Amino acid sequence: MSDTVQVEICPSILSADFTRLGDQVREIEAAGARRLQIDVMDGTYVPNITMGAGIVAAVRSVTPLLIEAHLMIVRPELHIPDFAQAGADLIIVHQEATLHLHRTVEQIKGLGKQAGVALNPATSLTTLEEILEYVDLVLIMTVNPGFGGQAFIHSMLPKLRRLRAMLDARGLHPLIEVDGGINPQTAPLAVAAGARVLVAGSSVYTPKQPVAAAMTALRAGYGAGTADAP
Ligand code: DX5
Repeated sequence: MSDTVQVEICPSILSADFTRLGDQVREIEAAGARRLQIDVMDGTYVPNITMGAGIVAAVRSVTPLLIEAHLMIVRPELHIPDFAQAGADLIIVHQEATLHLHRTVEQIKGLGKQAGVALNPATSLTTLEEILEYVDLVLIMTVNPGFGGQAFIHSMLPKLRRLRAMLDARGLHPLIEVDGGINPQTAPLAVAAGARVLVAGSSVYTPKQPVAAAMTALRAGYGAGTADAP
């Protein structure tokens, strides 16, 4: 069995140049991305307001990449059909934001989409014990959600390792994703702790270097023994 660990960068368009969003999506595609994340924020669940289903539809119209809609909104169950209709492939809700998480996850899957659940840094993994078998992805936030460009919270690394152990003990295989403060220095730490999808916004869309170079730099961080997931 190959020892190669399949790792995937999932660029977040939160830090993209919205005056040329189509080009910015094509740039991550050309740099080998296979998925991207759209950060939806409502100004209530998190202090920032960003974008909605209309941006998902616009991005859908220009790329075949897998689109993750990360719903940082209260009562996501009210809006999931809109994001499914707009073309999201995977819809991520926050455990803290929906009263009936099992019903919300089933709602997403009933629409033919992959379901993800996200935990804020202070939320315990135990809140996921009864839902893990139903989800396709678990997102461990490594910042407090709301803004790009924040510092990685290193105390989330033991949480990642405990999640990995929890899933292994139960023979469950949802993707483990991290989001927030991912850069060439923190990416290898997250991968070593069990993360397999790395959401990266400001380290991909940065004035310091082109997108392709930025993604190469991220991959170099966790290089040995890993490969871009197919
Ligand atoms: C929550 C958002 C951000 C974004 C990535 O605030 O979900 O984490 O995706 O932001 P960076 O990669 O710039 O920390």
